[in-house]
Amino acid sequence: MKTPPLVLVVGATGALGRPVVRRLLAAGVPVRALCRHPAQAADLVALGAEVVAGDLIDAASLQRACVGVQSVLACAHGLLGRGRWRSEAVDDTGHRALIAASQAAGVQRFVYVSALLAGPDSPLDFGRTKHAIEQAVAASGLPHAILRPSAFMEHHVHRFNGEPFLKHGRAVFFGPASKPRNFVAADDVARIAVHALLDDPLPFERLDIGGPDHASNAEVAALYARLAGLPYKATHLPAGLARALARVVRPLHPGVARILGLMGLPDEALPEHFDGAAALAQRFGFRMTRLQAFVQARVQAHVQAQVPAR
Ligand SMILES: NC(=O)c1ccc[n+]([C@@H]2O[C@H](COP(=O)([O-])OP(=O)(O)OC[C@H]3O[C@@H](n4cnc5c(N)ncnc54)[C@H](OP(=O)(O)O)[C@@H]3O)[C@@H](O)[C@H]2O)c1
Repeated sequence: MKTPPLVLVVGATGALGRPVVRRLLAAGVPVRALCRHPAQAADLVALGAEVVAGDLIDAASLQRACVGVQSVLACAHGLLGRGRWRSEAVDDTGHRALIAASQAAGVQRFVYVSALLAGPDSPLDFGRTKHAIEQAVAASGLPHAILRPSAFMEHHVHRFNGEPFLKHGRAVFFGPASKPRNFVAADDVARIAVHALLDDPLPFERLDIGGPDHASNAEVAALYARLAGLPYKATHLPAGLARALARVVRPLHPGVARILGLMGLPDEALPEHFDGAAALAQRFGFRMTRLQAFVQARVQAHVQAQVPAR
């Protein structure tokens, strides 16, 4: 019987990494998860993953982690990092080191998670770095697949918007927050990542990924309000304030400054449109998560968590 390939997942504790690891293990595929803090991956160990300590800024740890591995999934990032974990060290140098370690270990497939916003002229340094690593992966000689997802619902719908709205009863935005944005569920991206890792032959080399719905940040908060039965309240701060704060914060925390800079961008500087969801659903044979269903589930979980235990 053919032994299933060992997959190394870098970023296994992330919104995308966790469902990929779960799906691989459920399919009987052995997983090695490289984690900065292995204790935070106890749930993955319980499911059967081998967790190894490592860090994208520690090239030797990447070399050790790649030994005996057939496929690598690179789904970590340092968007919000600072100091030795600043984005340049993690997203650029660290990923180049991971590519080199994969080449040296004879890895047979390298799957890199980039982003829909990546490009040589992205207004965001992170988008330009992602583009540079896409190019490094393509030039590496490794059989590869590059996934380019839109904004994950788990972070951009819930964590940064719906969750604080439910907690404080008010949304706070920089600017009008009226740009239509495409959101995708990380678990939907995970399904496609598993195809990229396991399908033979390689199903694609580069794929844009997004969900079926678009909404502005203000519309997302209003949806939470409606589904939770709360009045919709929002404060809109001037977008220029985000840019000014970014300049002040940058020397102290370049990651936070990056997010503030992003919030201060005019809508047209970074369009977030995607219209290929129906084609993706048909190609990979599953129903993509709708925005309303995702929010409904999060609101229900919030309501249940507030009911006192009897
Ligand atoms: N979130 C989005 O909306 C979005 C959209 C498009 C593309 N993407 C891309 O999709 C991928 C997954 O994103 P995500 O949202 O799932 O990430 P996430 O939830 O923010 O988690 C980040 C992951 O990266 C790991 N990590 C950070 N620095 C590391 C380092 N120095 N060495 C090793 N691991 C490190 C973290 O591990 P620790 O447990 O050690 O912190 C964590 O597992 C990333 O490449 C991201 O750029 C994300």
